[in-house]
Amino acid sequence: MKAFDKLPVHVGLIMDGNGRWAQKKHMPRSFGHNAGMNTMIKLAAHASGLGIKYLTVYTLSTENLSRPQDELDGLFALFRGYFKTNVKKLYKKGAAVKIIGDISPLPDDVQTLLKEGESGSPADAEFTLVFAINYGARSEIVRAVNLAVERGEKVTESDFAATLYTGGIPDPDLIIRTGGEVRLSNFLTYQAAYSELYFTDVLFPDFGTREFDKALKEYERRDRRFGKIKK
Ligand code: IPE
Ligand code: IPE
Ligand code: MG
Repeated sequence: MKAFDKLPVHVGLIMDGNGRWAQKKHMPRSFGHNAGMNTMIKLAAHASGLGIKYLTVYTLSTENLSRPQDELDGLFALFRGYFKTNVKKLYKKGAAVKIIGDISPLPDDVQTLLKEGESGSPADAEFTLVFAINYGARSEIVRAVNLAVERGEKVTESDFAATLYTGGIPDPDLIIRTGGEVRLSNFLTYQAAYSELYFTDVLFPDFGTREFDKALKEYERRDRRFGKIKK
């Protein structure tokens, strides 16, 4: 029996609440980011097992880059760890990774690891884990506009979408945000035009596979009309 009658092809995940989760335990924020990374790894395996094709995880926003350097260093250390070891486990399952965002302000070795993570990915992957790193929808859109201006041609919606970082990836069907805030915080604004949105107060480290399935159940109940009349 299938677990879900209707499954999103692409899920976007705003992984918020790591800092508060740690603070509640009287631990440093980095402890929360570590726990969040473990949750993300479990969710990626779960999503791919269910047959979801793309999971885009909001890992670092353009705005997050102004956080204190020690917090950023902790996050970069987590990226190093993931891209040195865990990424190979994904490959073994025939899964790929992709990076969206401008990684040029990151430490050189992290940039290299991220690029190797992408280039080492299998070409015909059944599942892609998309990391949004130093990602901001506004800068993504402005970048795409500038590319169009350079080409000197008018764009259609489909070739504009192809110029975004997510070119070739279908729009997210479902966007989940943990941590209680009800906003998108510069995540996939263009692509989210018709996404189903799911918000939960659960702090990201506690957002395990059961919570993820609750979001999928809610998605199953949604009637996606795309402007048409209910059948
Ligand atoms: C989200 O958790 C992860 C990143 C932004 C890197 P936060 O760090 O924003 O956690 P809270 O919102 O302070 O709890
Ligand atoms: C959004 O979380 C970014 C990520 C989850 C990576 P924030 O915690 O930075 O969002 P705001 O600033 O509260 O909207
Ligand atoms: Mg936050």
